[in-house]
Amino acid sequence: MTVQTPRRSTRYRGRRPQFRSLSDLVGHTPLVRLQRIARHLTPAVELYAKLEWFNPSGSVKDRPALGIILAAEAAGDLAPGRTLLDSTSGNMGIAYATLARVRGYRVHLMLPDNISPERTTILRSLGAELEFTPGLEGSDGAAAAARALAASQPGRYFYANQYDNPANWLAHYRTTGPEIIQQTRGRVTHLVAGLGTSGTLLGTGRALTDYNPRVQLVAVQPESPMHGIEGLKHMASARAPGIYVPALVDRTLAVSTEDAYETTRRLAADEGLLAGVSAGAAACAALRLADTLAEGVVVVILPDAGYKYLSESFWEEA
Ligand SMILES: Cc1ncc(COP(=O)(O)O)c(C=O)c1O
Repeated sequence: MTVQTPRRSTRYRGRRPQFRSLSDLVGHTPLVRLQRIARHLTPAVELYAKLEWFNPSGSVKDRPALGIILAAEAAGDLAPGRTLLDSTSGNMGIAYATLARVRGYRVHLMLPDNISPERTTILRSLGAELEFTPGLEGSDGAAAAARALAASQPGRYFYANQYDNPANWLAHYRTTGPEIIQQTRGRVTHLVAGLGTSGTLLGTGRALTDYNPRVQLVAVQPESPMHGIEGLKHMASARAPGIYVPALVDRTLAVSTEDAYETTRRLAADEGLLAGVSAGAAACAALRLADTLAEGVVVVILPDAGYKYLSESFWEEA
């Protein structure tokens, strides 16, 4: 038997790396048409999903994390050696740790103590310092603890405060929105996204409505305060984020945890999209909306992939 030794490629020799840092990889995520789960729709209704897990830390949160870091650097609030502090239930912390550690910052996070072991391991591996608050108090409890810590030691931390920081929605205004306009060639008519801080829906939405005021912004929320849709807030029972402007939202659709699980399973089995549960909730709402339209180009944001949720039992349920 002869073994062929691979010839050394000359193609890449002497080339510079294409990207200088992970920050250069944030955004420019793909937009794909949903085929099978949307095949009952009339051909005049097109449903597209924006796959935000293509961001370097695996979620939509890379956009606001980078936006907040760059704004803080520009204002002189962050410099190497300082500590970025915030509360998070996972994705924003993963994004901070991924993008801030390499720039020389420490990352200190307040988290509800019921987050999944996968998330804790990911955050620790990325070098974040973790402090836990009672899970029953949810993301509001973690945010209150972060606020109190920042107030008690003002010189020590840069408190990023994703819920109240306009750099959160501005990141989507400058990146997610223009990408969707370009990817749909300006044809987008409806934007559907879940509400956590509301940065994704309102930042992207402001860019789309600046371009075409007739674009409809559709918010997705859990049906009840106790729910299993990681990343989403039940606004009626939670502390409203400072950046949330309800008047900008045209419609709010409530999705049950069971329906979110069901659509998450269908995205995987029928579309090849192993997405997270909030993506399932958003896709479920987008399908419901699309069912009511005679024509339109609906874009739904899928915030993250399913890998961090694999220990949940719903994947196995019929
Ligand atoms: C999985 C997931 N989905 C949705 C959201 C909501 O995004 P936003 O905070 O921009 O409203 C988040 C935010 O943390 C999230 O982690």
